[in-house]
Formats: sequence, C-alpha cells, structure tokens
Amino acid sequence: MELVKAARDVRENAYVPYSGFKVGAALRGASGRVYAGCNVENVAYPEGTCAEAGAIAAMVAAGETTLAEVYVVAESPAPVPPCGGCRQKLLEFGAPDTPITMATTSGAETRMTLSELLPGAFGADHMSKP
Ligand code: THU
Repeated sequence: MELVKAARDVRENAYVPYSGFKVGAALRGASGRVYAGCNVENVAYPEGTCAEAGAIAAMVAAGETTLAEVYVVAESPAPVPPCGGCRQKLLEFGAPDTPITMATTSGAETRMTLSELLPGAFGADHMSKP
C-alpha cells in the first residue's frame, strides 16, 4: 500500500542523533495525494519535530488542508501512537473519525480514530463567548 511504503521509506531519512528513534509518517490528503515526514531532532532537544508534524507541513505546503488517513511507523515493541501535541495537530486538518494506523517495522498494526486518540479535544467552539 502506498501509504505504508511512503511512511517506511521516509522513516529511513529521520534525523535522530539524540534519541536514535526513527519515526516515519504518511498522510493521505482528501485529494488522494500522499505526504510524508520523518522526525528531525535538534541539539536543543525541544526544538526537534515529530514525523507527523513534518508530514502535515508537507501537505500544507503542497496546498492541501484536509487529511483523510494517517500511517505512523517506528521500530518499537508495540505500534507507536502520535504524541499528544501531534494528536492536536492532526485534528486541525482531520476529523474525529479520521483513521490513524500505528505500526511497527516488523508489521504489527493498531488502528484508531482521531477522537479515540484525543477525546475531549480543544476546538474552535471553546473560544466562542458564552
Ligand atoms: N516521535 C515522533 O516523531 N512521532 C511520534 O509519534 C512519537 C515520537 C519522535 C520525537 C523524537 O524525535 C523521538 O521520536 C523520540 O521521542
């Protein structure tokens, strides 16, 4: 599957001199196009970016702002879920029922929706005046 290959391939390019933990993410936009990103770390550790953030940036840079599907892969004993911040970032361009597949390089997969990963999410409605 195109999404799986994109995530696995981009993971190879992850820049991870500090954690050694390579992550690849691939998103399918509503157009059907696929966008990929890997984690990029920095010597000032909090400045690093997650694979999901890189993939989102690639999608938006290409002019697309609706994501239909997400795939994340890492070499891990169990499928790696997006971090809390990335869940919020994904929701910005996805929907509560957007499917997120988390995978290991050895082939284990777990599938959840964005609302399962981020229940009680903060949204624009919370900013309207009561
Ligand atoms: N990381 C991601 O890129 N995505 C995730 O879903 C979880 C964590 C990265 C951040 C950091 O470069 C490394 O994995 C270890 O936390």
